[in-house]
Amino acid sequence: MSQIPQDIIERVRDSADIVDVVSQYVDLKQRGPNFFGLCPFHNEKTPSFSVAPAKQIYYCFGCNSGGNAFSFLMDYQQISFPDAVKVLADRYNIPISLERSDGDSELYSSLYKLHEIAVQMYQDNLFSKSGQKALSYLKDRGLNEDMIKQFKIGFAEDSWDQLVKKCKGRGFTRSQIVQSGLFSQSDKGTFDRFRSRIMFPVFHPSGKPIAFGGRIFESDDPAKYLNSPETPLYKKSNVFYGLQATRDAIRKEGHVILVEGYMDFIKLYQSAIHPVVSVSGTAFTSRHASSIAKITQKVILLYDGDGAGGNAAIRAGWVLYRSGLIPSVVRPPNGLDPDDWIDRSGSSELLSAIDSPIDYIDFHMDFNKGVELKGTDRQQYIMILARELRSIEDGVIRNDLIKAISEKLSIEEHDLIRTVNTQRVNPEQNYEDEFVDEGKIVFSSQVDKAQVEILQLLIGKDIELKRNIIDQIELELFTNPLLNQLAKILFDKNLDVESSSIIEYFQDKNERDSIAQILFTKDQNSSSEEIVSDCIKILRSEPIKEKISALRIEIREKESKGEDPVKELDAITKLRSQLNDL
Ligand code: UTP
Ligand code: MN
Repeated sequence: MSQIPQDIIERVRDSADIVDVVSQYVDLKQRGPNFFGLCPFHNEKTPSFSVAPAKQIYYCFGCNSGGNAFSFLMDYQQISFPDAVKVLADRYNIPISLERSDGDSELYSSLYKLHEIAVQMYQDNLFSKSGQKALSYLKDRGLNEDMIKQFKIGFAEDSWDQLVKKCKGRGFTRSQIVQSGLFSQSDKGTFDRFRSRIMFPVFHPSGKPIAFGGRIFESDDPAKYLNSPETPLYKKSNVFYGLQATRDAIRKEGHVILVEGYMDFIKLYQSAIHPVVSVSGTAFTSRHASSIAKITQKVILLYDGDGAGGNAAIRAGWVLYRSGLIPSVVRPPNGLDPDDWIDRSGSSELLSAIDSPIDYIDFHMDFNKGVELKGTDRQQYIMILARELRSIEDGVIRNDLIKAISEKLSIEEHDLIRTVNTQRVNPEQNYEDEFVDEGKIVFSSQVDKAQVEILQLLIGKDIELKRNIIDQIELELFTNPLLNQLAKILFDKNLDVESSSIIEYFQDKNERDSIAQILFTKDQNSSSEEIVSDCIKILRSEPIKEKISALRIEIREKESKGEDPVKELDAITKLRSQLNDL
């Protein structure tokens, strides 16, 4: 991807010191072999951000961000990998030959170009014969042509290669094609990712297209919207749909209306309600909140009127408070979404609701019937509120909420404060919902955990143990795709690879964070052999157990048909003894 030669990257990585790099931005204190500080990637009061000089990596136990010196700069300064290499090369006086082209900005400009070609082609389709049905679908849904043109809505034909052909011969490299997210690959070649769909381009605030959401309209494909995958241009957790058109209106009005869907956004905009944005194919995250915080503090949550919309609004509200923003809520009636609401009642009803939105806490109480709860239900409800309040750093916001809640629930304010203060801030759990929404990878099954344990030993220092493990296992035991990738790197390099360079094999931030978490672990020193044999047992027994449960299903079927499942019972006995022998 980058044009910086690998040997230079390695020299920079070897020269840079993670503690030196991080402490330019974070106040670090040494505790034991590691350093700790307040995490620069999320709000916290007690340090859970740690740096391991021996491994040259960092990891935050609060928000699970992790990586090496390069990825720290990438995330902290929001710069590309080659730029991070350059910053550090500069700091450590390592010359980078300048005649090499800037691979990264070339990558970005070609990805924008590919998206521009796609936007144009899909728009042309929509207004051609092939797009007739799509166009009349949009018009039936009440969109006028001005909106369709302003938001460059288009149509992807029922073709495997219309876009492939359009882009061919225009000098795009294979890697640019792959990284655009506009195509899918199979062993048979490269195909258009979006087919027979109405295409909503997603724009960077600067107005450049960076992704698409594609809606089906005449089939029953289970995915109503197919979105672009995460690409170098498109990071879902901080992209809004529509912001390029509404930023000024949001500033001017002093508030933003947040909706859940592309259609909701366009319908509001068309009804001359302009300070609107929509999330784009993902839940609302703290990164979304930080982008909003730069333009306004007031956020009106206009989510779908059904239960799912209510729950999503509740979650988004806490995310907003944690980022110092003030949420309020407007609920469409009868479970409608904003788009249908406008269709049924016109925009005036919605407009007056927006003029006097419900206070977030009132909505919370109302939605959960909080005031009417009794006994343990009430206690549980108060605990849930207390836990959320505990994670709000802004003292003013927190106190106001405590005041409002204690009044509504008739609790003494100081009792609520005490409950809030006794909530443990557990960095590993506190923000879990939010970070799971952002695509964090968790290893929760026993089988995944066993793979993680073995990998951690393979990364560790005990060479004899590592050899011993290698003799007992094979790559196929790592069934989790990400863990398999990590295992493959270790196998390929004969286990001789540094933690900080492993990080660079993983370009996706969520993958990198997970890998950093695995790498960050302490070296185990006791009973490692036991751990190994336990883990291997778990991994080897898994496929056998699966076979046994498949056989059980067959047995039940045979029995229901009155047949005798002798063969299956026999097979189960054999598998059982295999299990025992492990
Ligand atoms: P909804 O299911 O509420 O769709 O999803 P919608 O916006 O009302 O769509 P229409 O009105 O039927 O056309 C809300 C948003 O969630 C994302 C899309 O961004 C959508 O606008 N979504 C939904 C997906 O990404 N994939 C899906 O399959 C469904
Ligand atoms: Mn809708």
